[in-house]
Amino acid sequence: MTPEEEEAIRREFEASRKEAHKEQPHQAQAPDGFELNQFSSIKHVIGIVSGKGGVGKSFVTGILATELMRAGHSVGILDADITGPSIPKMFGISDQRIAAMDERMLIPATTSTGIRVVSTNLVLEHETDPVLWRGPLLMGVLKQFYEDVLWGNIDYLLVDMPPGTGDVALTVFQSLPIEGVVIVSSPQDLVQMIVGKAVNMAAMMEVPVIGLVENMSYFVCPSCGEKHELFGPSYAQETADHFGIDLLGRLPIDPAIAKICDAGTIERDLPEHLLDAALEIIAEHDA
Ligand SMILES: Nc1ncnc2c1ncn2[C@@H]1O[C@H](COP(=O)(O)OP(=O)(O)O)[C@@H](O)[C@H]1O
Ligand SMILES: [Mg+2]
Repeated sequence: MTPEEEEAIRREFEASRKEAHKEQPHQAQAPDGFELNQFSSIKHVIGIVSGKGGVGKSFVTGILATELMRAGHSVGILDADITGPSIPKMFGISDQRIAAMDERMLIPATTSTGIRVVSTNLVLEHETDPVLWRGPLLMGVLKQFYEDVLWGNIDYLLVDMPPGTGDVALTVFQSLPIEGVVIVSSPQDLVQMIVGKAVNMAAMMEVPVIGLVENMSYFVCPSCGEKHELFGPSYAQETADHFGIDLLGRLPIDPAIAKICDAGTIERDLPEHLLDAALEIIAEHDA
């Protein structure tokens, strides 16, 4: 090959590479979108997010799942909080294991009322085993938890997201067809900044925000019945207004709730109507 021919080939290669680069933004919306298996169909995928951990994100996921079931819908929960899963315990299914069928398909665990659940805790040998997985493995698990699970035909898949704006959360936003997110927060000084991060992440990923739930918002004294705002007056409404989103509800701190979650009896013992506004808005998507 002459130097001229070599140069021509190199130029051609460079040009085609540039062309390929240019075309990228025009590709289908989620080039790395996960694809559901042919045996399942899911009408609505809803994410439950929080700016930080420990604010009750899983609890809100549990309430929504329980109430959607009570309203006659079929529901699945994808516990995407892979390194800090708490859904199985709340539903009393920690002793179940996700079963594998054939080479590839996974059969989810099932709660007492029939909610289908996948969670890392349901694949670990012991519930207390730490999950020390690096990024690529976490992504692989997430993909499998969506694509390879026999969800069947369900109305709602609730995704309990990992707290914050890390890798797994980004992948969930990018790869799952999330219809909207419920943001959970606790009433603390920095709540606005933390809620802001969640709101902005949703905006950047072009996922609509369904609304805000303030958990541990107040405490009702069991002897005098008086409502105490332990962390000072709530800014939930102001925060929601500030970001132009709906306030879906404020949940009290309730030791009975902590007990129900610990005992795994949420479906049986959860008081009704805790998040009616949230359920109404979620149901509107069906209209
Ligand atoms: N409103 C509440 N009243 C009492 N305990 C609560 C309440 N919300 C959550 N908890 C408890 O606080 C802990 C953290 O809640 P969880 O939903 O697991 O948080 P996250 O998923 O955001 O990390 C759990 O043990 C749960 O039972
Ligand atoms: Mg959790």
